[in-house]
Amino acid sequence: MNLENIKKEYENLVKEIQDEKSLYDLRVKFLGKKGVLTEIMKGAKDLLPEERPVFGKAINEIKEFINNHLEETKQKLIDSAINAKLASEEIDVTLPAKKENLGGINPLNKVIEEIEELFISMGYSVAEGPEVETDKFNFEMLNLPKNHPARDMQDSFYITNELLMRTQTSPVQAREMLKAEGRGPIKIICPGKVYRRDNDDATHSHQFTQIEGLVVDKNITFSDLKGTLEYLIKSLFGENKKIRLRPSFFPFTEPSVEVDISWGNEDDEENIKWLEILGAGMVHPNVLKMAGFNPEEYSGFAFGMGPERIAMLKYGISDIRSFYTNDIRFLEQFSSDRND
Ligand code: DAH
Repeated sequence: MNLENIKKEYENLVKEIQDEKSLYDLRVKFLGKKGVLTEIMKGAKDLLPEERPVFGKAINEIKEFINNHLEETKQKLIDSAINAKLASEEIDVTLPAKKENLGGINPLNKVIEEIEELFISMGYSVAEGPEVETDKFNFEMLNLPKNHPARDMQDSFYITNELLMRTQTSPVQAREMLKAEGRGPIKIICPGKVYRRDNDDATHSHQFTQIEGLVVDKNITFSDLKGTLEYLIKSLFGENKKIRLRPSFFPFTEPSVEVDISWGNEDDEENIKWLEILGAGMVHPNVLKMAGFNPEEYSGFAFGMGPERIAMLKYGISDIRSFYTNDIRFLEQFSSDRND
């Protein structure tokens, strides 16, 4: 084969090459130890001495040509592989961005957590009790014997004669007192779900939340209760808020009060507007006694509030059902990027 043909053959073959592996094979075929050019070199020994340098030079030229060309081709292959990769991974910055929806904490849970933290900072612990409760704990241990008229205040979902969905978080009071076996102090709050046979509307729900509070110790007085509630209300709603206690009735407290929060005209003593916000009182001696505490030695206060009502006032929410229906338009108003 003459040298011109070798070059042509190389040029034909190299045109087809698509990848580095085939390019390497082509190098071996032409420049390798057993390659085409090595074979041709062997033929030099049959030439006349004066022909050899010319032949050698021509071979070297073609070797150099092929070698350089292989290098260039290799570089081109590498470049085009990089370009193909870049093209396939191209990011189109002009595409409209995908909207990331940030989750928000339900305002009801926000309020519950805020109240928990407040009481924890005052040395309370958080207690829990069952939602399916016995008549004994939901009513009897709270000084509401069977057929007591005050039971009507809390229309109940009964499961059997003795079992019901708890109507209040107050039964946790009795459970915690029994656990303490007649020895104080007890300082707890109990958040949880409660159930009542109510028709759902903007201000009623058959299932809602309560937070119960209970303190039992020696020398607990009504002013401890008032101071605690005042601190709670000011922390939740602001230092300018005032509270007002009105006499009321709960079977498990004596005396009992309903607590109002000032809601406007705070600077004009005569014309302050008031809203009811929670119920409270001094733990009834019968309740202490039934739960194993000596009312001569121990006293206590208790309170119960509805975090839904607190959240509605705090955030200006007008329909209690908004807390439960998972409407994203409602919930996203409380997502962390807007509120925290
Ligand atoms: N359990 C009462 C209710 O559901 C609320 C309540 C009032 C709880 C006074 C208390 C309390 O602990 O002292 O209406």
